[in-house]
Parts: sequence; structure tokens; C-alpha cells
Amino acid sequence: MVQADKRLLKVLEGEALTPPPVWLMRQAGRHLPEYHELRAQARDFLDFCYSPSLATEATLQPIRRYGMDGAILFADILLILDALGRKVAFVEGEGPRVAPLSRASDLQGVAKSAVEARLSPVFETVRRVRAALPPETTLIGFAGSPWTVAIYGIEGRGGTDKSTARMFGYEQPEEMDAVLRILADHTVDYLAEQAKAGADVLMLFESWAEGLPEDAFERWVVAPTRSIVEQLRARGINQPVIGFPRGAGALVVRYAAETGVSAVGLDTAVPTRWANEALPPGLPVQGNLDPLRLMAGGPGLDARVREIRDAFRGRPHIFNLGHGVPQTTPIDHVVRMLQVLREAT
Ligand code: CP3
Repeated sequence: MVQADKRLLKVLEGEALTPPPVWLMRQAGRHLPEYHELRAQARDFLDFCYSPSLATEATLQPIRRYGMDGAILFADILLILDALGRKVAFVEGEGPRVAPLSRASDLQGVAKSAVEARLSPVFETVRRVRAALPPETTLIGFAGSPWTVAIYGIEGRGGTDKSTARMFGYEQPEEMDAVLRILADHTVDYLAEQAKAGADVLMLFESWAEGLPEDAFERWVVAPTRSIVEQLRARGINQPVIGFPRGAGALVVRYAAETGVSAVGLDTAVPTRWANEALPPGLPVQGNLDPLRLMAGGPGLDARVREIRDAFRGRPHIFNLGHGVPQTTPIDHVVRMLQVLREAT
């Protein structure tokens, strides 16, 4: 149920608010000392994500410290690959590793009920966070978008140039369609359960939308995203969906027009005034302070926070970064950013 006092939710329903509501991608996690303390309680990162008590606490930490308008569920976009039976490991200092898949059937070895059972601690986390959050805080559930998750599944790791995944798509287009369809269908189940457990908003992270020509963008990014939104709506899941096609460049306009998402996340490189003119009037946007600008702090941070806030005045806008909070970001800079954003204007 929509609660009138959730400012972030109001923006997603089309209201332009001053100051804009704010949360930060990766607001939970390694820039917070209290996270490091909590993290030490689980052997590996997957165990941490699948522990409702630890994941609930991690979700709440940035809310307590900063009073963000949105809390993002503490989990990871790669949990779905783990639940589908692909071996996922988070290697300290190296990032995630996934056993590479070579055909769509590699994603079909686990029964639907077993996938849901594996992910069930995440839904328990959503219920616990929901119960613990202040009523004015919006709870954001999320998943990776199929193309981004497929890249990890095919390449086996992050930090690559994505050429293995792209060649897979060009050489075996039907097989790639099948990979994306399987991921999209499971993502619908996953997000629907998060919504039923109490998520107010759902976000799709398309972290690797960059560098695609328009035909591939249409087939691998737009079509699977549209399928997810359509299936959610067909099931009566009406929570707003924020789509974040990071690196899409000018194709963000097509993404906004064709996927059915309720709002678009803008990455750091999207020019604010261009976005304001190119996107449909009234479409909510989220973004897009450079994470390194936050890390650097100083007068340049203050000026850019005001610029972004002012550029989207009159349009429903959720203030955020253009990507995640870097690990070495000083807490004081986040506090200062919030202060400047919320100053009387
Ligand atoms: O505050 C939040 O945003 C909550 C939770 C969250 C995490 N990952 C926690 C996490 C969210 C929303 C994600 C999404 C995610 N995960 C994305 C999409 C967003 C983006 O950054 O583009 C991606 C691509 C991943 C995959 C992933 N998970 C990578 C590449 C890494 C390694 C990064 C690193 O620096 O090691 C992770 C691990 C991860 N996910 C951590 C956290 C807090 C760090 C692990 C740790 O604490 O040991």
C-alpha cells in the first residue's frame, strides 16, 4: 500500500519534490565502519547475503547513520546465478567469479521450487527490514537485469571487455535469447516475491548496458527488461520499477520509451540538461553525481550537488550517484552532500 509519507515513492508516482528524496547505490557496505564489523561475522559473502539477521542489519545501517529516504535490500545481483546452480564465489580483492555457462540449458538444472527455496532468506530479510524501517523510508528491492547477469554467467567474472558475451550473442542468437528468457522469467519470480514480502519499489541493475549497438541493445537489454515489467504487471505486482541502464548513452531514451519502466537511473556520464529535454516530461529520473566527486568532497562537491538538484527541478527526481559509493568515501562527505541537497532554496 502506498503510504503518503514516503517521499521517494511519491516521486515515483510522478510528483516533483524539493528537495528531492535521496539514497545512494551501494550505500550499505564497505565505506561504513559498522559494515566491516558486521561482515566479520560471516565466512563468505554469499553466507552473509543469505543470513536474514546480518543482511537486515546491513540494510538498516545507512538509514540509521544518514537518514536516507530509501533503503536498498542488502543482497547481490549474482544470487540468482547461485540459486540457478551456477557456482558463484566472491574472491577477496578480485571480485566475483562464476562458473562460465556455455548453453541455455546450463541454467535449467535446478527445479523452480529449489530456486525459490535457496532465495527464501532474501524474502525473510525483506520482511524483517520492512518491519524495522521508519514509515517514511521506502524499501527498494532489486535484481540484476538479464543481460548484465548473463555477462557474469558467460564471462565468469567482472572487469572484462564483455567480448565473450557479445560474440556468444552474435554467433548463437537463439541460444542467447534463451539464456536471457530463462533469466528474465526467474527474475520475475524473484522480484514478485520481494514485492510480496514488502518491497515498495523494485530496481533493475543493468550495469553493463554500455558499448552495445542499437540492434543488440534492443534485443539483449530492452526486450528482456520489457518482458520482466510486463510479467510483473500481469501478476498484479504494481510496485514502481526503476531501470538503470548504465552506460546506455543516448539509448537511454529508447530504454525509457520501450521497456515500460516507471523511472530511469542515469549514470554519471549522462548530461543532466540533455536528459531533461530528451526524456518524456514527467518521467521520474534518478541520479547522477559522480561517485568520485563525492569521494573528493570540497566546494566542487557542494556546487555539483546543487547543479544536479537544480537541473531536474520541476521533474520527479531522486537524487543518487551515477554508480555505487566507492569504498574509501569519507563519511563526512556523505553527510555534507545530504546537508547541501536538503538546504532551503
Ligand atoms: O547498498 C547496496 O547497494 C546494497 C547491496 C548491493 C550489493 N551489490 C552488495 C555488495 C547491491 C544493490 C549490489 C548490486 C551489484 N552487485 C551490482 C549492480 C550495481 C553495480 O555496481 O553496477 C553488480 C554489478 C554486482 C556484482 C558484484 N558484487 C561485484 C562486481 C562485487 C565485487 C565488488 C568488490 O568491490 O569486491 C560484488 C560484491 C559486493 N556486493 C559487495 C557488496 C557490499 C562487497 C563484498 C564484501 O563486502 O566483501
